[in-house]
Parts: sequence; structure tokens; C-alpha cells
Amino acid sequence: MTEKRVVSPKKQSDDLDTSLRPRSLDDYVGQEAVKDNLRIAITASRQRGDALDHVLLYGPPGLGKTTLANIIATEMGVRIKTTSGPAIERPGDMVATLTQLREHDVLFVDEIHRLGRIVEEVLYPAMEDFFVSWVVDKGLKARSMNLSIKPFTLIGATTRFGMVSPPMRDRFGSVHRLEFYDEQAMETIVNRSAHILKIEAEPEGLIEIAKRSRGTPRIANRLLRQVRDFAQVMADNIVTAEIAQESLSKLEVDAIGLDKLDHRVLTSIIEKFDGGPVGLNTLAASINEESETIEEVYEPYLLQLGFLDRTTRGRVATQRAYEHLGIDYPKDIQSQPSLF
Ligand SMILES: Nc1ncnc2c1ncn2[C@@H]1O[C@H](COP(=O)(O)OP(=O)(O)OP(=O)(O)O)[C@@H](O)[C@H]1O
Ligand SMILES: [Mg+2]
Repeated sequence: MTEKRVVSPKKQSDDLDTSLRPRSLDDYVGQEAVKDNLRIAITASRQRGDALDHVLLYGPPGLGKTTLANIIATEMGVRIKTTSGPAIERPGDMVATLTQLREHDVLFVDEIHRLGRIVEEVLYPAMEDFFVSWVVDKGLKARSMNLSIKPFTLIGATTRFGMVSPPMRDRFGSVHRLEFYDEQAMETIVNRSAHILKIEAEPEGLIEIAKRSRGTPRIANRLLRQVRDFAQVMADNIVTAEIAQESLSKLEVDAIGLDKLDHRVLTSIIEKFDGGPVGLNTLAASINEESETIEEVYEPYLLQLGFLDRTTRGRVATQRAYEHLGIDYPKDIQSQPSLF
């Protein structure tokens, strides 16, 4: 199923505008623990004149991993070379990329969990001791060549931490998990974006957008643009609370940012599987969606809201989910004796 969702955290073609992207750590809203940590690491390595230790960033789509990687390079005062796991197919491509880096440069590898194993093996000695090694010639003449490279910083990003191989994970000096943004941070982000885009708005209008953006800056920026269009065509260009509410309900985004596909996931668990537990693949088949999409795109926010539980036997809809959907929570679930 490839329905276009206005609340998808994944990048869409109309998200290309980079004017909203923060350029410095001070400009990057929220994620305070990660920022504090990075500030110290960046200052320390600059004082020593070293490359920054390798950094792994993970978390759901649209929370600011790519943005942060670019900011780290800017704050270090170095260049950034951007590539991605699926883009580097052969070990030779990785060798070529690594040998072109200048001292202290950042190599940003997006979707690092999708690097092939042989390509990863090129990275290991590069990350640890700054050399690359590869085999020349074939058969009896085969020998391996070592070449030293400049000290550099690898920044890896992934939405699937569990799929990054353990030896790869171990080679990062720091590993940071980006969290969904809280309401306060979301309001700051929406305000900041409205200011940059010169959108006229009442505070309540922007708060409404922040509330429905699933703790995800990418979604906030997209909803803000959509509401602006709506205000321009249907009202006198001012984003008020009523305009925001009206346009977001037209887009089928509910008061807490769920759309009909989230509702379909939850109602399917509740109605077809009596609230669960239901296995991921069975659930995916029942709504004609890929398991991977459910796991990567729908689930993180539903888990964050406490609407869904992941148990060893499968996914379970919680009482909160029933309440949000206006479905009675079955008494037999409530009174079920605890096993412990
Ligand atoms: N902390 C932040 N403050 C303000 N805006 C932000 C912040 N983080 C992200 N954004 C905005 O959200 C957009 C999406 O962020 P980004 O592309 O960095 O996400 P990502 O985590 O790399 O997503 P993906 O997993 O899909 O690659 C950015 O272009 C930026 O405008
Ligand atoms: Mg990204």
C-alpha cells in the first residue's frame, strides 16, 4: 500500500526545502542530553586538535539525525561527505570514498544498517586505525595492500538500531538515541518555522499544529505549510486555532496526530484480534501493509503514546487506545486475574 500520508515521518518530495533546517547546535531545538554531550565532545576534540570520535545517531524518521550530522560538521569546522548504506555497493567504492577524505572530515553514512558486510569490513580498520586494506590481483598473486588515510569522523544514522551489526556498533565512540520531541519543544519548532516562512499566525493556531505533529519536526513543518495554504485560500491568511483545526481535520489528522492508517492498525487489533496479542506479520497482512513499515513508521509513535504494547506474544492494544477510539474496553480484559 503506498497511500501518501500527510503525517508520515518519512521524507516526501515536498520536504526538500532546507530553509527550515537548523544550522547550529544552539538553533537545534530539544534533544538536550544529546546536545550537551556533543558540545563537550566537540569542544574537547577541537582543543586537542583531534578528529571527533565516531558518532552513531538512531531513532525514528524525521527527528533530526541528518540535520544533526550536518551541524556536527559545521561546529567542528570541517567538510561533510554524505552517502548511504545502499549507495555503497562495492568495497572499492568505500575505499575510494575514504581515501578522498581530508583531515578531520566527517563521513556521514545514512541508513548505515544497510551497508553490506564486505563493505563494513573496509570500514573497521579505517575507523579504528585509519587505514584501508584491500586485495589486489587474483589467485597466487593475490596480496593485500594497506593504505593509510586521514583521521576522520564517521557519523552513522539509522532508524533500525537493532539491524546495525554489533562489531559496527562497537566502533562508535558515542551512540545517541533521538527521542520524540515533547510538546514544549514542538511548539518552539513550529514557532521557529512560522517565523522563518513569515507565516502570520495566532499562538493557538501554532499550538494546534504542534499537538498534531507526532513529536516529529518533519511532520510539523509539513503540516504548517499545509495549514498556511488553507489559511491563504479559505481565510484571510492568518493561521488561527479554528483554521488549524479545520484544515487538519480535512487532512484527516486527529487531535493527537493520528490518521486513518493509525486508526486502522488499532481497530484491526481491537476488532479482528480481540485487542491482541497479535503477531506483527499477521497484523500486517490484516491491513495489507508491510511488517517493516508498521515497525518503523506506525509503531514507534503508538508505543510512545502508550496505545500499543509489544509483548513476546505480539502486539496488544491498551486501554488508552480503546478510549481514544471511543470503543468500550472489555470488562473481561479489565478483570483478568494477573498471572503474578
Ligand atoms: N531539533 C530540531 N529543531 C528544529 N527543526 C528540526 C530539528 N530536527 C529536525 N528538524 C527539521 O525536521 C526536518 C527533518 O529532519 P532530518 O531530515 O534531519 O530527520 P532524520 O532523522 O534524518 O530523518 P530520516 O530518518 O528520515 O532520515 C529537518 O529538515 C528540519 O527542518
Ligand atoms: Mg535523514
